[in-house]
Amino acid sequence: MGLIRRKVHTNHGAKKPEDFVKLPNHVAIIMDGNGRWAKKHRLNVAMGHRQGVETLREIIRHTDDLGIKSLSIYAFSTENWNRSPEEVGALMQLILDFFASEIDELDEKNVRILILGDKNGLPDKQRDALMEAERRTGDNTGLNLNIAVNYGGRAELTRAARELAAEAAAGKIAPDDIDEKMLADHLYTRGQGDVDLMIRTSGEMRLSNFLLYQCAYAEFLFPTVLWPDFRVSDYDDALTAYGGRERRFGKRL
Ligand code: IPE
Ligand code: IPE
Ligand code: MG
Repeated sequence: MGLIRRKVHTNHGAKKPEDFVKLPNHVAIIMDGNGRWAKKHRLNVAMGHRQGVETLREIIRHTDDLGIKSLSIYAFSTENWNRSPEEVGALMQLILDFFASEIDELDEKNVRILILGDKNGLPDKQRDALMEAERRTGDNTGLNLNIAVNYGGRAELTRAARELAAEAAAGKIAPDDIDEKMLADHLYTRGQGDVDLMIRTSGEMRLSNFLLYQCAYAEFLFPTVLWPDFRVSDYDDALTAYGGRERRFGKRL
């Protein structure tokens, strides 16, 4: 069975910005359920991931159409290295394919790509492709598309701690200068603000080490649909549900 290519530009029924009472500035998505989708369709797990990329293309487009400022997606965690070499290899190949096929359109749409995670821990080809995507789109001013590859929230915080310690040891800052803002400025997402809405598909209800610091006050949604089956309409439903959430940030409203 081949890849199910969907017509992406015929988003009939997709919502427009004015259809929402409020939209998040920063959406994060844990794309989960590719393996279960493949199993359900008696396909190799790699096919589940390939189909997942099709969903991702649509979701990025719709996020851009809605004018949402930042989208952070979890593509490969520091823990995903523990999967079989075949599956890791398939995911690495998909990362290359994704950038090769999407970069022109994303750049044309003024999307700025930022990689969250340790690029140096990736094979050379992947590292080079990710660095090139960041370089090419670095001055773009549209959607911030953050793609987490070889990313872990704890690794990100550890790295920030190490950088701050080095600055303190070099006498550039005093330990007492370190505040939440300075710490946030040492995260990959610096300058982009906290996650407003975190979506994880497939019904799993956990963070799996994604954006630990940035999700302190995020609203969470856990649609049960598997990622390859997640449609723009499901995304619109999640965004509508977000609009109905009362965010208190500790205050009594
Ligand atoms: C998420 O899908 C994609 C990645 C981890 C890259 P999974 O492969 O985790 O799907 P399930 O959880 O096995 O269904
Ligand atoms: C989180 O999903 C990582 C990505 C979606 C890239 P996992 O499927 O790897 O997480 P766990 O193992 O179920 O927590
Ligand atoms: Mg999973």
